[in-house]
Amino acid sequence: MLDVQAIAHPPLAPLAAAGVIRREDYTPPDWQVPEIALDFALDAAATRVRATLQVVRSSAHDQPLVLDGGGQTPLSVIVDGVAINDWRLEGGALIVPLSGAAHVVETEVEIAPERNTQLMGLYASGGNLCTQCEAEGFRRITFFPDRPDVLSVYTVRLAADKARYPVLLANGDPIAAGDLPDGRHWAEWRDPFPKPSYLFALVAGDLVANRATFTTMSGRDVALGIWVRAADLPKTEHALAALQTSMAWDERVYGREYDLDVFNIVAVDDFNFGAMENKGLNIFNSRYILADADTATDYDFDAIAAVVAHEYFHNWSGNRITCRDWFQLSLKEGFTVFRDQGFSADQGSAAVKRIEDVRGLRAAQFPEDAGPLAHPIRPDEYQEISNFYTATIYNKGAEVIRMIATILGPERFRAGTDLYFDRFDGTAATCEDFVASMEAGSGVDLSQFRLWYAQAGTPRVTASLHHDTGSDRATLTVSQRTPPTPGQPSKQPMVLPLKLKLFGAQTAQTLAPEQLVLLDQPTEHIVFEGVGERPILSINRGFSAPVVIETDRSAADLAFLSAHDDDPFARYEAMQQLMLDTLVESAANGTADHQAVIAAIAGTLDNAALDPAFIAEAVLLPSDAFVGDQMARVDPEAIFRAREALRADVGQRLAGRWRAAYDAAQVDRFEYTPAAKGLRRLKTVALGYIAASGVDDAAGLAFAQFEGADNMTDRQGALATLVAGESPERVAALDIFYNRYGDNALVLDKWFQVQALSSRADTLATVEELARHRDFTLANPNRARALIGAFSANQRAFHAADGAGYRFVADQLIALDKLNPQTAAKMIPPLGRWRRFDEARAALMRQELERIVATPGLSKDMFEQASKSLA
Ligand code: PHE
Ligand code: ZN
Repeated sequence: MLDVQAIAHPPLAPLAAAGVIRREDYTPPDWQVPEIALDFALDAAATRVRATLQVVRSSAHDQPLVLDGGGQTPLSVIVDGVAINDWRLEGGALIVPLSGAAHVVETEVEIAPERNTQLMGLYASGGNLCTQCEAEGFRRITFFPDRPDVLSVYTVRLAADKARYPVLLANGDPIAAGDLPDGRHWAEWRDPFPKPSYLFALVAGDLVANRATFTTMSGRDVALGIWVRAADLPKTEHALAALQTSMAWDERVYGREYDLDVFNIVAVDDFNFGAMENKGLNIFNSRYILADADTATDYDFDAIAAVVAHEYFHNWSGNRITCRDWFQLSLKEGFTVFRDQGFSADQGSAAVKRIEDVRGLRAAQFPEDAGPLAHPIRPDEYQEISNFYTATIYNKGAEVIRMIATILGPERFRAGTDLYFDRFDGTAATCEDFVASMEAGSGVDLSQFRLWYAQAGTPRVTASLHHDTGSDRATLTVSQRTPPTPGQPSKQPMVLPLKLKLFGAQTAQTLAPEQLVLLDQPTEHIVFEGVGERPILSINRGFSAPVVIETDRSAADLAFLSAHDDDPFARYEAMQQLMLDTLVESAANGTADHQAVIAAIAGTLDNAALDPAFIAEAVLLPSDAFVGDQMARVDPEAIFRAREALRADVGQRLAGRWRAAYDAAQVDRFEYTPAAKGLRRLKTVALGYIAASGVDDAAGLAFAQFEGADNMTDRQGALATLVAGESPERVAALDIFYNRYGDNALVLDKWFQVQALSSRADTLATVEELARHRDFTLANPNRARALIGAFSANQRAFHAADGAGYRFVADQLIALDKLNPQTAAKMIPPLGRWRRFDEARAALMRQELERIVATPGLSKDMFEQASKSLA
């Protein structure tokens, strides 16, 4: 047997020790910069940036002014009007010796946006110029103390060629504009709210706006604009409506009013993340703005509304109150995700939204928390902050806020957030400030709860219910354990808010009404009196705590809950558990009894009282990856076979019901309403089961849906079904799709992605060919993610036993790192899961990680992710 631990790997220690930044080392800035004036002479090849900083010594110290830089050399440094030359560069930073308490420091640099492939700082996208500064991109534009606790009032002057860049935008309110000789023009913007440099933004381009007005709760009119290229203007209605709805929602639910006279959003095609909350000038990845029925799925529409809301909500949770340092990132991100989840829940089915959010948490965050990159929501150290924009900071962070809201209840939670916004407005705060505000606003002690900020790892809870018929008493024994994570070998018990309820096995009556219990001990007993019949446990209702629950409930009890539980999440969960148990058994033994799953699905489909959107979620089998997470050793081939067998069986045994569901779910005309979305979702889920059943006309049915669709949801759903199969319609549909949408980058991403996600045996060969396709480029992050990111989520193809999938991904990431380290490093985690696999696969995965670590000129981003994954 191969010993994976024995494989040699290059010495990591000396490099790894360098450049670790620790939370405990935080010190306040030596110099503050209350005011900055920026003057840009914009040009794609060579942009001149002149910065004038009012700097003030923070305390009695004799340190020089240290301005972070991103590789540029100053053309001039002027202090109080006099050019100096005793400045020096140290590790990219500009060191300026200063003698007094306050000075005016002026620097000038030249940068080349069109050569900026990292998409951090000032860069070119689609012929326009734009910026991305979070977390540390501002230093690539000008020398500055590029840390979130330095807050400045910005005045920005932009000058550019008027024909190429007719629109000039920056943060805050427009002050003045005018023409210059030589076909150039200028505009000046001022943002009165002091902000950290990561919230700075500018855009120069040939753009048009979809405009509207929002009247705030105190009666002020705000001019809204969504800026895109002219051809995309018709695709901005949904985002604009979502913005208006978000603004009203934040007033109603959190009492937060917008504070500037303008709010602009710009869509750009090349963007490392989803979107960015720059003050008054949000910049978005165009995939989270542009939508119409023909090109965007329901999923896309929902994601657009959620991201528009998220960035807007940052105006308070992020901008008015920012982060003291990057270890506090979840202060703004966890809270803002919680806020956007609440917003989305209010736009449609809250139950389905909760199911989707938990599914996402389990797909991205649980594996992270169980692997080599596990970190607390408030990390203790990092090498490259860009690597910490993670599912843990964002999604587990949101779950932590949700638990606070659950423990406090709605009124006290609102009292806590009001106090937080009031106390810390205009400051750079910490997670501790937030928790302390919650305590002060509510009177609830959260001392032990703070462990959620400090400890990594997903707590595992075992729950066992014992019924004593003699005394009519039921005793629930609950134990918790948080597994070790890197740097945290042993853990303390956490505060777990668990919502519980007991049902009677015979009568289906409520034996104990829903109650919230707060567990804070390793093991606890909860006693229920007057339990006259055998009780069935409904636990972690609504997913009240982000934990893994292990119970000894039988298949029959899970089936009961799947049919009778009145908490939609718990009902979904019972069904998922039934499916998981069946799939894990089948993957381990090669076979399993499918009857309980089939009966539960049949019961769900037959229940006319259920919302079709809920039914569609509930009857869907858990993903291959999630099944693997339940196994001691992941066996991707066995999981694939088990899942396909169950899908086929469910498809065949319930054939009549799937047809009926499919036919009943037809919608006459496209409508973006919760009801129509639910029907479309159920229709494509039913189509998937019809195809899995193996009936002859399945491909014909899918092709008819593909051809007849008046919306992208139906079209893409049918295409995905066809792409997984062997029919001649498969190739035809892919060609039709390509020819129809080849000039639409966002839809073309779907074309790449659907093929990369296919469960067919030849997917790797297809994806290798697609990587050479003329429309493929690593320079565009969306395209790279659509192919490479999707492929590495494809459990069957990525984990091919010969390691060819791993090699392909490593080759692509090494190439991508040279252009865009941030986006490349984000795609390392699938390779880092090697401990979860058999020795042969683990060795092959390690080999690719070692090859990456040994690559000359590797970025800090990739080095941190890959070396930690090997450790
Ligand atoms: N702060 C952005 C958000 O969550 C995400 C982001 C991070 C965007 C870093 C770009 C760069 O809304
Ligand atoms: Zn955010």
